Amino acid sequence: MEQNGNYVTFSLEYLLAFHPLTNEPNRMAEVLIIPKGEARKYVYEAITPQIEALISDESDLIANLANITAVLKEAFQFFWVGFYIAKEGELVLGPFQGPIACTRIKPGKGVCGTAYSQKQTIIVPDVDQFPGHIACSSDSKSEIVIPVFNAKGEVAMILDVDSDKLSDFTQEDALGLQKILAVLEKKL
Ligand code: SME
Repeated sequence: MEQNGNYVTFSLEYLLAFHPLTNEPNRMAEVLIIPKGEARKYVYEAITPQIEALISDESDLIANLANITAVLKEAFQFFWVGFYIAKEGELVLGPFQGPIACTRIKPGKGVCGTAYSQKQTIIVPDVDQFPGHIACSSDSKSEIVIPVFNAKGEVAMILDVDSDKLSDFTQEDALGLQKILAVLEKKL
């Protein structure tokens, strides 16, 4: 903590660990610190350790996926953010934040099924230009889909983030989201 004229400043590390007024350790389930008005890169940097803390003591996959989508929604106000989980060779809707969505996606179908089959991140600047795009909502304009791997190197699930703006995702999002998913992959 530093006293600076009328202001007291706290380091981000301190704010993540302690409540600035009570000095009590933060209980991560209740406190989420998201820098406002910062470039996405810094927001990803700020939320990654918080997500790590949030899921570190919980072994239930669905609970952890649910909290990860909640953090991403709160941090970026994405139009839709959620997981599709690989089950018996297809993707089945998992925890998400946003409007209702299609429940099952076959490998190779849509952006999600393509990322699943190709085992790679796909950024789609304009969903209308992606052959076979599955439109769960006509308000979705661009999206990024990232595979999540288990210890055997299989795609265990994919993260799908949709925006209601065209060209809303860049390599910065791919990197930021991949780092978050790496935290999750350690638990798979
Ligand atoms: N647009 C995705 C389908 C999932 S929803 O957008 C939530 C796709 O083409 O795979």
